[in-house]
Amino acid sequence: MMKPATTASEPVTFPQDRTCPYHPPTAYDPLREGRPLSRVTLYDGRDVWVVTGHSAARQLLADPRLSSDRTRAAFPMTNERFARSRDRRLTLLGVDDPEHHDQRRMLVPSFTVKRVTAMRPRIQETVDRLLSDMVTVGPPAELVRAFALPLPSMVICDLLGVPYADHEFFEEQSRRVLRGPSAADTQDARDQLDGYLGDLIDKKRAEPGDGLLDELIQEQLRDGALDRAQLVSLATLLLVAGHETTANMISLGTFTLLRHPEQLAELRAEPELISGAVEELLRFLSIADGLLRVATEDIEFAGATIRADEGVLFSTSVINRDTAAFARPDTLDWHRPARHHVAFGFGIHQCLGQNLARAELEIALHTLFETLPGLRLAAPAEQIPFKPGDTIQGMLELPVTW
Ligand code: HEM
Repeated sequence: MMKPATTASEPVTFPQDRTCPYHPPTAYDPLREGRPLSRVTLYDGRDVWVVTGHSAARQLLADPRLSSDRTRAAFPMTNERFARSRDRRLTLLGVDDPEHHDQRRMLVPSFTVKRVTAMRPRIQETVDRLLSDMVTVGPPAELVRAFALPLPSMVICDLLGVPYADHEFFEEQSRRVLRGPSAADTQDARDQLDGYLGDLIDKKRAEPGDGLLDELIQEQLRDGALDRAQLVSLATLLLVAGHETTANMISLGTFTLLRHPEQLAELRAEPELISGAVEELLRFLSIADGLLRVATEDIEFAGATIRADEGVLFSTSVINRDTAAFARPDTLDWHRPARHHVAFGFGIHQCLGQNLARAELEIALHTLFETLPGLRLAAPAEQIPFKPGDTIQGMLELPVTW
């Protein structure tokens, strides 16, 4: 039987800032040693379980005794900003089966491989246009603002039927939701986003368009399968998840490639490696680190008992560097099979937008390095700011030149 890894030393505090933007925080090293399960302390002093083994993660993320319902009093929160909004019902991501299944079923047809394949030419056009604008203005450029953020924002706006003209407003609100300076600021940003999407939904009810939100209004709201509040919550989730995550993967992925010249050269020489490279970058960077659940019953696991009402976190960055699943996990290697990573989660909540994210990343990274063969950092790597540990990981800015 595997030994439970309740360490003899003090539990590690979770989350912590990364020391290098593309490696898990060095402060998590004891968690690697304690696989598959350790205890960590949250910001509020609460001790919870953290899953760090790859096989353990796939078992537990598929276990219906772990709930995603943030309104449960015992649900673990990783910072005060998120804790303050625990009483808001979160559609899809915050509900368990069978309700979750009914909600997800409405959305799946819009995110299939076939649907995403049909979106590729449009994604390519957008990438080409953004890069051509960058070239026209000339070097240097700040890549987050010029490319990494607008691409996924435009793509998700197109898909949902949200006017891109409003992008500055909703990008700013999602920044405040994910990284606002205080809990009150985050609350306010959530209210603003909900208000904006609620108004948009009401406008669309009167005057339908042809985006996914319009379809959901026609098919689900009218039938009563979703109420207005649920649709607003869902629209917010899709809009925020649809642009923030992919933008971070593009900025951090570019930074990582520029810091790994050998791997970059190989990718340039063999462009057909791109889809494996995207998978490996997803594993290596694990930008959504710290998936949250609460146990609804006692669970015997790996010689330990996870008690009902105990919090359980999944550190994807540590899980995706498990030597039992990935040989030499700290090396970036395009040739390894990486697709079984848990960067998109696992189980019923596994990322709905993963096919779309893959397509955007493949097209964005391939075209960026093809169009700008001389691309390089325009500031010393150590001085380029990246995001703090308690949010989705990525670069705050990425000054580049070519
Ligand atoms: C590289 C980019 C992305 C990463 C790393 C990522 C990561 C994740 C992860 C880890 C989860 C699972 C959360 C959990 O189990 O608690 C998730 C769920 C989700 N993601 Fe993504 N995501 C990405 C892009 C996208 C995009 C482009 C969309 C488009 C709309 C999207 C929409 C969603 C939704 C709706 C869920 C909730 C699914 C459910 O609860 O059934 N994501 N994502």
